[in-house]
Amino acid sequence: MDKYAVLGNPINHSRSPFIHTMFAETTLQNMEYGRLLCPLDDFKNTVDNFRREGGKGLNVTVPFKEQAYAYADTLTDRASKAGAVNTIKFCDDGTVVGDNTDGAGFIYDIKRLGWNFAGKRILILGAGGAARGIIGPILDESPEEILLVNRTLEKAQLIQKNFSQLKVATYESLTGDDISYDVIINATSLSLSGQLPQMNDSLYKGALVYDLMYGKTDTTVFTEYAKEHGATQVSDGLGMLVGQAALSFNLWRGVSPDPAPVLKALREIL
Ligand code: ATR
Repeated sequence: MDKYAVLGNPINHSRSPFIHTMFAETTLQNMEYGRLLCPLDDFKNTVDNFRREGGKGLNVTVPFKEQAYAYADTLTDRASKAGAVNTIKFCDDGTVVGDNTDGAGFIYDIKRLGWNFAGKRILILGAGGAARGIIGPILDESPEEILLVNRTLEKAQLIQKNFSQLKVATYESLTGDDISYDVIINATSLSLSGQLPQMNDSLYKGALVYDLMYGKTDTTVFTEYAKEHGATQVSDGLGMLVGQAALSFNLWRGVSPDPAPVLKALREIL
């Protein structure tokens, strides 16, 4: 039976085995998908061993996406632009392909929600791995402007080197009353600790607000706060999680599972 896994540290919380097992059932694929806890200083050996034992592919999560990028022999265009890999495929000819399906998974979810980024002014908070993955695919949707705001300006400026259309700033630029954005995306890790970004409350008014994080309910501290302060529509990132998984599954198996029933089932078990 073909073997796949999600690799990360920590990994116990990962919902990927649930998602991919359901994809395999619905598309009649003979495969198994597990969790692989990787020691922080042993990425290469852990992946080599999995491969030697017949592994066909991996999803890679925090904090190894940059190391997965370095491990791959060939990169898809979107992985190369993101500077990070979340999907590895071990091909029969021995090559290792690195892809990044995070951004396309995010766009899948945006379309599911009926949102459209064309001609829109977009504010992205955070310049870590999560932000890097979504910027290229958002630019492909022809927004009018993307402002990338980060506590550490240098990290935003590094991303700007790959995406010259991007504007970058720190949170101080979000304290004025005269600014507004159509879409606000939280790509920071703040929601994990129940914290909110330091920005003017008026920014939420009339905006579409998305948090890449997800929680037990279909809200996060950020989306709840945004809703209370006048956001038109809000979403957590569970749909993105299922969307990126469907694209990884397609890369490995050549079939496209339907994310919708899996998203519904996942929401019920959270
Ligand atoms: P990920 O790969 O999930 O994006 P990460 O690379 O650790 O994780 O990035 C976390 C993001 O959350 C970063 O943009 C980080 O800001 P810095 O680059 O300045 O560290 C942001 N973040 C984390 N804690 C924050 C805080 N207390 N205030 C503002 N931003 C924060």
